[in-house]
Amino acid sequence: MHFTINGQAVDAEFDPRTSLLDLLRDHLGLTGSKKGCNQGACGACTVLVDGERINSCLALAVQYEGRSITTVEGLASEEGLHPLQQAFVLHDGFQCGYCTPGQLCSAVAMADEVARGVPSLVTADLAAEAIALDGDELRERMSGNLCRCGAYNGIVAAIAETFGERPERMEAAA
Ligand code: FES
Ligand code: FES
Repeated sequence: MHFTINGQAVDAEFDPRTSLLDLLRDHLGLTGSKKGCNQGACGACTVLVDGERINSCLALAVQYEGRSITTVEGLASEEGLHPLQQAFVLHDGFQCGYCTPGQLCSAVAMADEVARGVPSLVTADLAAEAIALDGDELRERMSGNLCRCGAYNGIVAAIAETFGERPERMEAAA
């Protein structure tokens, strides 16, 4: 089967029962995506498929043949870390780091959802053309990504600095 993974063409043969997460980690050696719960509850396995975030532990790899998949290994460029990765370092957005790849991929796609005007549970005006990524929006939209270390303050600050309001305003909004 053929995929594009982090911009590279990849051909792979595998048992059709293989999850996308296991394909990435066990067959292709892309171990950045993490297996936390393996049942869709923690977000550690979040990857991007054609720019949209999914839990790769719940996805059969065969469903994504021909699609463009981005893992945490594909966020950085030759110029350096993705700005969100830099912000995670600056704001201590991780402790053990196990949830971090999922947090990063999820936040990148989340920011794109906001930019496209996709509402969340807490969006007050569903007809609004522009949605402000304030504290409530950010926390709601990232609620599928759990951090067992509780590094949430740093995570929120890093995402806010990169995609939304300044951390000081996030604190004020909390
Ligand atoms: Fe996929 Fe937890 S490992 S959601
Ligand atoms: Fe350890 Fe989030 S940094 S689980």
